[in-house]
This record gives sequence, structure tokens and C-alpha cells, in this order.
Amino acid sequence: MKKVNVIFDTDPGIDDAMALLLLHALPSIDVRAISTVFGNASIEDCTRNALYICERFSLPYPVYKGAGVTFAGLAETEYPDFVHGADGLGDVGFPLPKRRAESQSSVTYMIETLRAASEPIEVLAVGRMTNVAEALKQAPDIAPLIQRIVIMGGAVEVPGNVTEWAEANIYGDPEAAAFIFDSGVPVLMVGLDATLQHRMKKTALMSLRDQLGDAGEFLWHIKQCYLKFYADKGIFDGFPIHDSTAALALVHPECFEIRRGRLVCETQGGPRGRTVLTASEAGPHAVAMAADSEKLTAIFEAAMLAKYGAGSQ
Ligand code: RIB
Ligand code: CA
Repeated sequence: MKKVNVIFDTDPGIDDAMALLLLHALPSIDVRAISTVFGNASIEDCTRNALYICERFSLPYPVYKGAGVTFAGLAETEYPDFVHGADGLGDVGFPLPKRRAESQSSVTYMIETLRAASEPIEVLAVGRMTNVAEALKQAPDIAPLIQRIVIMGGAVEVPGNVTEWAEANIYGDPEAAAFIFDSGVPVLMVGLDATLQHRMKKTALMSLRDQLGDAGEFLWHIKQCYLKFYADKGIFDGFPIHDSTAALALVHPECFEIRRGRLVCETQGGPRGRTVLTASEAGPHAVAMAADSEKLTAIFEAAMLAKYGAGSQ
């Protein structure tokens, strides 16, 4: 099977952690490297979390540390510990990993890898888009070398999850998103319109805990924080798994309703971070507007069971 080469740009993060284990399990994906970005926690914590997951589950991917401030150079003052815990992984109390990040920055890695690539490479960005924007700014020649950027972020016809308009990954760095939308690189945006339609029930998580060995235990423990966040909001019928949904969109577009057009990201005033789609068949961007949760759940569970379940390699 011809695999899709992917650079995974991420801010782990509870749902990022699940997406990483999923990417490792999807037979049609070849993860080339992990690039970290601040967002769900500081860049130090997000990078440590990526290294911890790789070490615990023997994931062979190099980890490159990325941006700790926005594309415009702004530092974060508060991280969403009420969703992801103060450490970004649900405050379970994991030990420090022995593995270390590569010495190159993620931006340098992306530029050099794309320039040298003999096969198409896609970027899956499930945090702020700071690293990819920075790479494109420093090396505009890589734009035609990126096959596609698949992002988890944005909201078109549904409200945002940080402000009335804006989703967290876009709100955290609207200038980076705007830069990417203007770069000419094909984009598939998998935002809240689609990710809120693909939820995981607590019973499904319990069943993963019982069937996936250490991966199941890990997911169960880190997700407690996430379950509490949704329970506090009165949501008990399933929690979104945003970053895993975007990972699935990369190789299973048949599970999504896709609308083409041109995306713009607002950077000013109240709607800062709003993603606006002007629909047109010939548009350079694609947006997942709806998701088939039943099909996605079946693909997710089959891949995870095959990789981490009893009798897996
Ligand atoms: O809005 C959801 C997104 O914000 C997810 O990628 C989550 O991990 C956070 O980064
Ligand atoms: Ca994320």
C-alpha cells in the first residue's frame, strides 16, 4: 500500500495524544516526524509530552521542538489547564521521558525535509499553525513542495469554542492561519463543523481501556480531565476527539462532507480568529462541513484494535 507521508504538527494535549496513537495505528499513514507547538500547554510541556508518548509506546518518530510564541511574537499568558490539565496530559503524574528532542528546530526540519523530499509530504497541523507559517515565511520556495496542509481548526457555520466566532487553534494564532490561507498551499480545514459531529462516548472509551492494553490505560487516565470538563458543561453524551477526526480526514475523505472555496481568517476586533469560507467549486481550500461519525468510529476502533489490542504485534 502506498502510504501518505505526514509531518505531525501538534500541541499535546489530550486529544493530540490520542491522535498520535491513532496516526501510528493507521496503516495508510507514514509519520515522518513530530513537530511541537505551544497551545494546550507551554512549548516545553508540549514537547515533553510528545517525547513521553513516543517513549512509552515505542513510537520511532523524531520530535522537533517548535514555536513557543505566536507568528507575531506574542507570548501566552494562560494555558487551558481546565481542559488538558496543568501539564497538558491530564495531570496524571507521568515520569519525565529520557528521550530528547532533536537539535534542529521544527521550522528548519520542515524546510530542509520538504526541499529534499523525493515523495509528496503533507502536514497535519492540530495546534496553532505557527510553525508551518514560519517555515513558509522563511522559505517561500517550499509552498509548492507541500502536498497539502490538513488543519484541525476553525468554525464556519457553528460557533467557536473560545469566542462566539473563533476556535482555539485559530484564535491562538490568527496571523499564522491567515498567512497559510494566503500561501497558495492546498488546505483541508477540519474544524468544529465536522469535529463536533464525531464524538466518543464514555462507554467506548471504557471499552478501549479494556481492549487496548497499555494504550487503553493511558487514554483512559489522561481523558479523565477531559470528561470532567465536558461533564461540568452538562455534556455526558460523548466528547469530541478533534485531532483524531482531522487525522482521519487526511486519509478517509469519504467520511466527510467537503465544501470547496476560499478561506479567510479575520485578525482584527471581536471576530478575531473567525474563519470565513466563500464557497466556490474552483476555490483553493476545502472544508469538512460534516462528518459520518458511525463510519469514523468503525475505522478508528479497527485501527486501534489492530495496533494495540490483544494479539497485535
Ligand atoms: O479546538 C480544539 C483544538 O484545540 C484541539 O486541537 C485541541 O487539542 C486544542 O489544541
Ligand atoms: Ca491540538
